[in-house]
Amino acid sequence: MISIRNVRKDFVKGDVKQLVLKNINLSIADGDFVTIMGPSGGGKSTLLYLLALLDTPTTGDICIDNNNMGKLSEKAIEAFRGKNIGLIFQNANLISALTPLENLIIAMKDKSSYREKKRKGESLLEKVGLQHKKNSNSASLSGGEAQRVAVVRALVNNPRIILCDEPTGALDSVNSKRVIELLMNIRKETGCTLIIVTHDKDIGALGERKIILKDGEISELS
Ligand SMILES: Nc1ncnc2c1ncn2[C@@H]1O[C@H](COP(=O)(O)OP(=O)(O)OP(=O)(O)O)[C@@H](O)[C@H]1O
Ligand SMILES: [Mg+2]
Repeated sequence: MISIRNVRKDFVKGDVKQLVLKNINLSIADGDFVTIMGPSGGGKSTLLYLLALLDTPTTGDICIDNNNMGKLSEKAIEAFRGKNIGLIFQNANLISALTPLENLIIAMKDKSSYREKKRKGESLLEKVGLQHKKNSNSASLSGGEAQRVAVVRALVNNPRIILCDEPTGALDSVNSKRVIELLMNIRKETGCTLIIVTHDKDIGALGERKIILKDGEISELS
């Protein structure tokens, strides 16, 4: 269970303070499938960064399984994130010196053998139609291909919580559908929590819970 309690986030630039998240209260149960939509600049990525424990609220708390994440050390947060959270950003951020397959293998935290990791990486790449690119130069991939690698990279450690910030922003409709279906199937198979920020109305409509974030405030469609 993720609990966001009275979360407020402001950014200060010089003398100007911008209140980006006003007073967010939201509980997300294990296994929920939540989509978050809303106008550009409304605070969606900011909220996702807080959930990914990459940033901290100005005031308020983020609790996961009744643990107040603000009370953990950096090291504990890092370990928690590695084990529990899969993150997909709009930019793929692959390591360009490594092949797609190596990008997946290096992200794997379990102690299985290299051969097993390789097999797992190959099977994930196959799920997004990129088995033929596994040994390519990552820098030579198209934006959409790189994005699909980044999607499966977020899945390598079987995360309990998958956070996606416009995961299909760089994809055509066929690959967009493929990525969303993959994420939804993973959720069905593993019972993980899936949170997707999107500007795509069709994807937004798929969420079992649909949240709108606008001017730093949330509302939930019923
Ligand atoms: N690190 C930061 N420093 C200063 N201001 C920031 C920072 N991150 C976000 N902001 C500001 O917070 C506001 C919300 O940004 P955010 O990225 O959360 O919006 P968004 O809803 O994700 O928009 P989009 O749909 O365009 O991705 C913006 O006005 C942005 O300029
Ligand atoms: Mg954003």
